Amino acid sequence: MKIKVVSPNAERTEQLVKMVRASDTNLDVLSATSPMSTLSAAINGSRPSLLVLDGVDGPGLDDIGRYTLKHPEVEAIVISSEQSPAFLLKAMQTGVREVLPSALDARTMEAAVQRVTRKRSQAAAPAELGKVMAFMACKGGSGASFVAANVAHALSLRDGRTVALIDLDLQFGDSLLMLSDQAPTSHVADVASHISRLDSQLLRAAMVQISGTLSVLASPDELTQALEVQPEHVEAIIKQAQQMFDYVVIDLGRSINAVSLRALDMATHVFPVLQMNLPNVRDAKRLQALFKSLDYAPQKIHWLVNRYQKGGDITLDSLQQTLGGAQVATIPNHFNAVSASVNQGVPIGKMARNNPVTRALLNLCSTVSPMQQVKKDSWLNTMFGNA
Ligand SMILES: Nc1ncnc2c1ncn2[C@@H]1O[C@H](COP(=O)(O)OP(=O)(O)OP(=O)(O)O)[C@@H](O)[C@H]1O
Ligand SMILES: [Mg+2]
Repeated sequence: MKIKVVSPNAERTEQLVKMVRASDTNLDVLSATSPMSTLSAAINGSRPSLLVLDGVDGPGLDDIGRYTLKHPEVEAIVISSEQSPAFLLKAMQTGVREVLPSALDARTMEAAVQRVTRKRSQAAAPAELGKVMAFMACKGGSGASFVAANVAHALSLRDGRTVALIDLDLQFGDSLLMLSDQAPTSHVADVASHISRLDSQLLRAAMVQISGTLSVLASPDELTQALEVQPEHVEAIIKQAQQMFDYVVIDLGRSINAVSLRALDMATHVFPVLQMNLPNVRDAKRLQALFKSLDYAPQKIHWLVNRYQKGGDITLDSLQQTLGGAQVATIPNHFNAVSASVNQGVPIGKMARNNPVTRALLNLCSTVSPMQQVKKDSWLNTMFGNA
């Protein structure tokens, strides 16, 4: 669970972060030093589930109320020297879950944080784990990396949802290049070599931040490093990412090996990407046989024809028949827009909003993951503790 501590005083911020971290080592604790009047900017797209807000007065509650109105899924614990009944009532009406005194000890903080985490884990444990979307190429050059990177970008623009793009094409990965010209300071093999210390901080530090809601874990830069990554490393990395992000998008490249099989097993959705030619279709059939032997439910597999053009030798109908009637989605061929995006390392959704490729990618996102309305407890429920 992600928690953000905000206090107008830097020293208090630090103290409170320590207290919150001590209350549960599995928490992903972020912080900012800021008054409540600039709360939105302080939160800055980091999309926490719980806010711990310090130094709050009456007007501060109004600022919090404006934020929680827009983000009803976020819980708030307020720390204030004010404890009058009028203040407490207003806090509850604002949607604040608890009001703690300024002079609080570690045990009070721990109990308050645990009340919220316990409640959320009971109410929403399965919904909180990020969905894993794995993209793989039926043949080299099908466009799996382009599609994976740009689906990750499209998902990260949805209502502040957070996305991790993990490049598991360990030998020839290039996902990061599709989105940014930033050089990675770390990569999958680095994280694997520190796997016993893996936690949210280590993973976050190893990732390149593309935006407030999109982070990338790059593939290793040397071929030999790829060989050191084991299936259990990949499993631990994906599990950690699922706890921190709403979506975990994986570029699997085109090899089937112990590492990619582990990621495929963990995926909520698998997207084999192919182009409409015979060698691709033949490999698609092979992959389909593999998925069958692994007992994957048909709904887990989403066949994706990239660079689709009507009127080719192979029709969508015949492909569907070859794949035993499976659904097939398409992404159109658009050489200029896609090349410009790939060569400049800028997501296509940013460069060419209305391009048919951009629209097809957005469609794909909403088919597999429709937008969800997040409901929040009413303050009455909150007050009476029966929410
Ligand atoms: N929809 C599209 N329209 C036009 N060109 C495309 C499209 N999708 C991908 N391409 C082109 O295909 C090239 C290869 O794409 P990409 O690197 O994503 O393939 P891949 O399957 O990941 O390949 P590899 O096997 O090397 O990992 C891109 O550089 C881009 O120029
Ligand atoms: Mg690739």
